[in-house]
Amino acid sequence: MLTGTIGISGAKNAALPLMAACLLTDETLYLANLPHLADITTLATLLSQHGAELSLDGAAPDGGYSGRVLALTAKEIASATAPYDLVRKMRASVLVLGPLVARHGIARVSLPGGCAIGTRPVDLHIKGLIQLGAEIDLADGYIDARAPGGLTGARIVFPQVSVGATENLLMAATLARGQTQLVNAAREPEVSDLAHCLVAMGARIEGIGTDTLTIDGVERLHGARHSVIADRIEAGTYAVAAAITGGSVELKSIRLDLISSLADTLVAAGVSVTETTNGVLIARQNGPLVGVDVMTEPYPGFPTDMQAQIMALMTTATGASMITETVFENRFMHVPELSRMGANINVHQSSAMVRGVPSLRGAPVMATDLRASVSLVLAGLAAEGETMVHRVYHLDRGYERLEEKLAGCGADIERVRAA
Ligand code: UD1
Repeated sequence: MLTGTIGISGAKNAALPLMAACLLTDETLYLANLPHLADITTLATLLSQHGAELSLDGAAPDGGYSGRVLALTAKEIASATAPYDLVRKMRASVLVLGPLVARHGIARVSLPGGCAIGTRPVDLHIKGLIQLGAEIDLADGYIDARAPGGLTGARIVFPQVSVGATENLLMAATLARGQTQLVNAAREPEVSDLAHCLVAMGARIEGIGTDTLTIDGVERLHGARHSVIADRIEAGTYAVAAAITGGSVELKSIRLDLISSLADTLVAAGVSVTETTNGVLIARQNGPLVGVDVMTEPYPGFPTDMQAQIMALMTTATGASMITETVFENRFMHVPELSRMGANINVHQSSAMVRGVPSLRGAPVMATDLRASVSLVLAGLAAEGETMVHRVYHLDRGYERLEEKLAGCGADIERVRAA
């Protein structure tokens, strides 16, 4: 049973596009509340090789990194190539494409390639840039983009919601000539956080938070200071940790409206969710968990990045729960691992039928991707006996000091070196 308070870090998925936005200006962009994660380091390395200077400053009063500020200055673009070696480590590297073509007129970015959770193409990013006037060739595994005379505004209607394509084209459009409209744009809070930062840098953007973004291009952007929003997926993960162990945990620095679809699901499952002065309190102390059906959707629907964690929770609920994944294909790699711990789950196409069992049993399990691996940690917290999660480097891509935060609330968890 977990009890206590957990401080929620800045959102990885907001921080990555915000860092890429430094390529749009020769002035300094200061980002506060940046999480300390492997993915952030990967993008920092990529930005440095594009010519950006990065420096980290500030205190870390709580033993964490919340007080630190990252300063990013891309005075000149030293190289417009994002090499395969870096892009293959992290798909989000493709976010440098829009800013580089918009400001520098040229970009050469490796295609991210396949990935553990489906094929995940970047066709929407590419088509959008072509609509903004870029010439694009795909050769030798690279996206070669050129717009020597600059980009020109256009009306782009996305056939499906894409967070990354919305962010890439939003950044590119800030420096395009004339007006751009992004229709059926992603409304994720991380997209809005990026848009607010771009406005602080001098961009002209209307419709922030809606599915239509209208951008009037400007000649140049300038530096700004911005604080990264809290990580709703990290918060949601710890909310499930409280629920699955029958505990009570206050999540500090997260707003309830950022996790409302998850909160609705938790409440329907018998978990109490209350707003506090500092954040949100999650508690399940009286009564059993009840199975609830869940379908992932773009924001404000239930996040795909919380699908594995909610499935872990539902494995111990009373009754059945149908979990349907609509955003990514092949995002059920956690199912065989949860089954090894005694879960009763049947997958049929994009749905998983979870029938609750009285208890899970600890087992050695293998992490496959970021959110799948954290679902195994959550299941391990509730399971009888010891669970050993292998390949935990996946966790370090998206969770800052996971074991410390959980242990601070009474979890028996430690990182051990493989023998
Ligand atoms: C972002 C998040 C990721 C989250 C996902 C969906 C970051 C760094 N990552 O990923 O954690 O799971 O949003 O909320 O913010 N698609 C295409 N063509 C494209 C682009 C996307 O078909 O050009 C498809 C994808 O395969 C997927 C769907 O669109 O099926 C949504 O993907 P997208 O929203 O683009 O995800 P990412 O931005 O990669």
